[in-house]
Amino acid sequence: MTAPLLEARNLSLQRGGVDVLKKVSLTIQENDVQALIGSNGSGKTSLLLAFARLLPISRGELLVKGETIHGEQAELAYRRRISIVFQEPLLLDASVAANVAAGLSLRKTPRQEQQERVDEALEMFNIAGLSRRSAHTLSSGEARRVSLARAFAIRPELIFLDEPFTALDLPLRETLFSLLARLLSSNGITAVIATHDCREVLQLCNKVAVMKKGHLIGSGTPADVLADPPDDFSAAFARHAHLQVGRSATTEGHPCS
Ligand SMILES: Nc1ncnc2c1ncn2[C@@H]1O[C@H](COP(=O)(O)OP(=O)(O)OP(=O)(O)O)[C@@H](O)[C@H]1O
Ligand SMILES: [Mg+2]
Repeated sequence: MTAPLLEARNLSLQRGGVDVLKKVSLTIQENDVQALIGSNGSGKTSLLLAFARLLPISRGELLVKGETIHGEQAELAYRRRISIVFQEPLLLDASVAANVAAGLSLRKTPRQEQQERVDEALEMFNIAGLSRRSAHTLSSGEARRVSLARAFAIRPELIFLDEPFTALDLPLRETLFSLLARLLSSNGITAVIATHDCREVLQLCNKVAVMKKGHLIGSGTPADVLADPPDDFSAAFARHAHLQVGRSATTEGHPCS
């Protein structure tokens, strides 16, 4: 059997001197869309940051296709394959177009190709009209679209999305939800998504992991985990999901968080 694209083995991580991830083990296969759920502060963002190598792990291992990332070259090669969309859009003090181009410039993509990819991403996220605007003048929904466009512009093999639709108005959330579903399935991108939205889990993800106080306490298919939730939080999540399934049988369905 081929090695998983990404594997955390007994991964622990400290922030501010406190263990915020405790011996987390999780395997992510190519083309998986892996949800991370759990209450506020359970460690979802910390795990995404560890996966993206933005926080150093204190113990355990992170394996990419069965191998540890060792040395500058391997680190660089991994970073070129991944994108992350942060919980709060972190944009450069520059134009929208420059922000969308940021990952491409870092990767030294040729100028002409950069321009084409930026135009494509701006079009895709319906922000072409904002391309010359300073990113700091954007509304939070616009900024979210810019950060998604920046992440997809590099055509990542693996993308980490931290609550990508939180605090968006419903029509925009619906639009971005459909777009993301299309992008993930048509481009064969592997994704890990921290979310509080049961519809994202049910409709986007083939796997879900439940975090609690830095521990990973359950994982599997959404059907399996929600049928036998490992804690009160995931039990409440499962109740919402069942309501959602019932409701979407009679309506178009709405996000249930
Ligand atoms: N910079 C930091 N210094 C110290 N502790 C931190 C820091 N950042 C996060 N933490 C702690 O790490 C724990 C996990 O936080 P994390 O942001 O990973 O949770 P989360 O599951 O993403 O929560 P949310 O659903 O609120 O986004 C929390 O207890 C949090 O207070
Ligand atoms: Mg978080």
